[in-house]
Amino acid sequence: MDPRKPVEVVKDVVETAAAKMADALTPDVPGAPGSGTPAVEEPTTPHDPLPPKREQGTPDTRTPTGAVTGVPPTAKGQQDEYLTTAQGARLRDTDHSLKAGPRGPVLLQDHHLREKITHFDHERIPERVVHARGAGAHGSFTAYGSAERFTRAGFLKKDAQTPVFVRFSTVLGSRGSADTVRDTRGFATKFYTDEGTFDLVGNNMPVFFIQDAIKFPDIIHAAKPHPDREIPQAQSAHDTFWDFVSLHTEAQHHTMWNMSDRGIPRSYRMMEGFGVHTFRLVNEAGGTVLVSSIGSPSSACTRWPGRKPS
Ligand code: HEM
Repeated sequence: MDPRKPVEVVKDVVETAAAKMADALTPDVPGAPGSGTPAVEEPTTPHDPLPPKREQGTPDTRTPTGAVTGVPPTAKGQQDEYLTTAQGARLRDTDHSLKAGPRGPVLLQDHHLREKITHFDHERIPERVVHARGAGAHGSFTAYGSAERFTRAGFLKKDAQTPVFVRFSTVLGSRGSADTVRDTRGFATKFYTDEGTFDLVGNNMPVFFIQDAIKFPDIIHAAKPHPDREIPQAQSAHDTFWDFVSLHTEAQHHTMWNMSDRGIPRSYRMMEGFGVHTFRLVNEAGGTVLVSSIGSPSSACTRWPGRKPS
């Protein structure tokens, strides 16, 4: 017979079980309740928020050109002792706008008022018209070095490793649409290279619906859901879509690709990538190399070693 009081035995059992659970759930397992073991006692003592789990961490903070800023990833705005403007000027008050006298009109030179309202007005970002649905991941890019002949970019030299962020997307689906629909897939990649950020977009088909950007609003209007009924969603089962396709041979070409298995890739791993247009790379000699994303490297590259970049 255990000499302890029943309440102590129960507490011991619960604590041991909780400790075992915490061991079993490594912080990397999604769904693990938190970065600390939950206490069974009534929470009467205040404590600081628990540290984020490993997978809840944020990436390195970088400038728009990819340089490391050194700012801790957990840094947030307005966490200091003083309320400030966006430029860091301390504010005495955020509840009263500047007025001309006690009953006077509001004055436009109240910088903080205008900044606060402008910030508020921009809190809602409208949904993107195309490629609205997507999913992204951080990773690392290792170059095979096969592009060294064509470019002097450091991140394409053999074995160079570069942190990347890639976002995969469908083209037509709006917010809430399914990821599994038949559609062209896109990907947008940020390479955080030592020489700045290199942005690369591609689709998983080597052709494009239109050859002239002036038709972009027309094809997208034809393919997005009818505005008055919001269906069909993320698909091409529209009269308007088929009207457009029947009148444009380049759209017919793309539709043939779309209706193949490429329109329903099994996973992001099963997607090929094409830039469709021609890339201009600069080689060691400073000359231009034009590279198309279709075909083999030998047939796709035109070298103009003598031509200096403009
Ligand atoms: C006439 C040609 C094209 C036009 C006018 C066009 C236009 C656009 C527009 C307006 C956006 C949305 C931008 C935003 O909301 O911020 C977009 C996004 C995108 N486009 Fe195009 N596009 C064209 C061709 C292409 C081609 C050839 C590809 C790839 C091969 C492509 C891949 C993408 C991708 C992947 C995105 C999403 C980027 C992201 O996830 O951030 N587009 N395009």
